[in-house]
Amino acid sequence: MVDSADSVVLSLRGIRKSYPGVVALDGVDLALHRGEVHVLLGENGAGKSTLMKIISGAVARDAGEILIDGRPAELRGPRDAQARGIGIIYQEFNLIPHLTAAENIFLGREPRLAPGIIDQRALRAAAGRLLGELGVAIEPGAVVGRLSVAQQQMVEVAKALSLDARVLIMDEPTSALTEQEIRELFATIARLKARGVALVYISHRMEELFAIGDRVTVLRDGRHVGTRLIRETTMPELVRLMVGRDLHDQFPKQAAPLGAEALRVEGLRRAGVLHDIGFTLRRGEVVGVAGLMGSGRTELARALFGADRIDGGRIFVRGEERTIASPRAAIDLGLGFLTEDRKHQGLVLGLSVQENTCLPSIGALSRLGLMQPAREAEVTARRIAELRIKTPGPHQRVVNLSGGNQQKVVLAKWLTTEADVLIFDEPTRGIDVGAKVEIYQLINQLAARGTAILMISSELPEVLGMSDRILVMHAGRIAGEFTAAEATPEKLLAAALGRTGLAAA
Ligand SMILES: Nc1ncnc2c1ncn2[C@@H]1O[C@H](COP(=O)(O)OP(=O)(O)OP(=O)(O)O)[C@@H](O)[C@H]1O
Ligand SMILES: [Mg+2]
Repeated sequence: MVDSADSVVLSLRGIRKSYPGVVALDGVDLALHRGEVHVLLGENGAGKSTLMKIISGAVARDAGEILIDGRPAELRGPRDAQARGIGIIYQEFNLIPHLTAAENIFLGREPRLAPGIIDQRALRAAAGRLLGELGVAIEPGAVVGRLSVAQQQMVEVAKALSLDARVLIMDEPTSALTEQEIRELFATIARLKARGVALVYISHRMEELFAIGDRVTVLRDGRHVGTRLIRETTMPELVRLMVGRDLHDQFPKQAAPLGAEALRVEGLRRAGVLHDIGFTLRRGEVVGVAGLMGSGRTELARALFGADRIDGGRIFVRGEERTIASPRAAIDLGLGFLTEDRKHQGLVLGLSVQENTCLPSIGALSRLGLMQPAREAEVTARRIAELRIKTPGPHQRVVNLSGGNQQKVVLAKWLTTEADVLIFDEPTRGIDVGAKVEIYQLINQLAARGTAILMISSELPEVLGMSDRILVMHAGRIAGEFTAAEATPEKLLAAALGRTGLAAA
């Protein structure tokens, strides 16, 4: 790492950007160095993505200067930024679902046999090379809409690599990747660094910053609050800069008294996906579901919620056997499901924060079928305060919120229902460290009022810190079950890899 002015590839001075009712960036400076990973840190809504959209030409700034190689530069849109070697991988994917991986990677830059005729073979070969370089098993001809979230992310990475970027921005690249894929991404980042690329890395997974960062800049409410060398800072210092206070207890678990059986599953089966699943969930209980990506956790949630058909097994809700044929039926029985894919399943992006918050609970909030606007406004105001949703007001359209704040609205929506059983799939993905603690406190409150919670999570510390009991899935089965007291990271991992006696049984 060279710490001199000549190593600066791109710098920003006094960048400002406002939206109606929001100052997203309030005079931000930043300098990106060759061959370095510059981490950008800040709470949800702090302005990270907006700043990166300005560097990549997608958003126009209101004021401030951009310098490339020390000279003032105007970026006239994303293509112009790309031509100057600035690449970005967005937090919300930018892929076109009905095109193939190869077509997405080279969109607008396809090799051609003649004007207007794409050379499909050359296109697929080039895409295959890039995907190979990343070490991922994706067919260049695969239709992107059918790929998993993780695979789509890898297509985004390949697309950025194909641009031969000098500056490469990654906005929460790992939030949907497996451990193995994260290691591969980090190896790719190391190769790009060695080639002299200046990388910007945004993530709410704090442990990653110390693994790959060289320098870190913290934003708070659109302001630059500090830049440090990673080797000269500490996690508590960064958290303090970020949230403006110390966080003493990251997992404020409070065990609630266990009540009656809320949900029981026996021999649940979905061909090729779920095998002989059985467990009980009691009122007031938080049961964590650990496992690797692809182990069947989300599939289990979908089957319970009536989103996917089951091929066998019995489901008992409050002790009574039920057939759950659709999500509507599940909601009517008092089940709620916070999906991992918020953008497509969790929210209506064109509607407001208030409309989304009150969507599934219309039954509870309306009396005799009449809506109660005052009651809705009151509930929404409470959720905005509790979850610290950063929005100019309840009527802001959700599409205008930052990624993490959109996620908080999905949480608000399910917290507002009076569901007896809540299934959370990755509840804190993309949520900043401060707000995570608040979500855990809400989980405590829900459990205290008797809600039964099934919490699917890929973050072992979260599963260990917040569950009363933990189920570990492997290859569509429950491969291990542990009480909070007996669970350790090693035991959970062994079960997740299918390395326990139970898994063989
Ligand atoms: N198109 C838009 N219209 C209105 N407000 C916007 C728009 N884009 C961003 N904002 C607002 O600007 C602020 C900064 O948002 P930004 O997306 O940059 O945050 P972020 O730091 O990336 O947060 P997260 O960690 O949640 O992704 C937020 O208050 C957001 O609601
Ligand atoms: Mg963002």
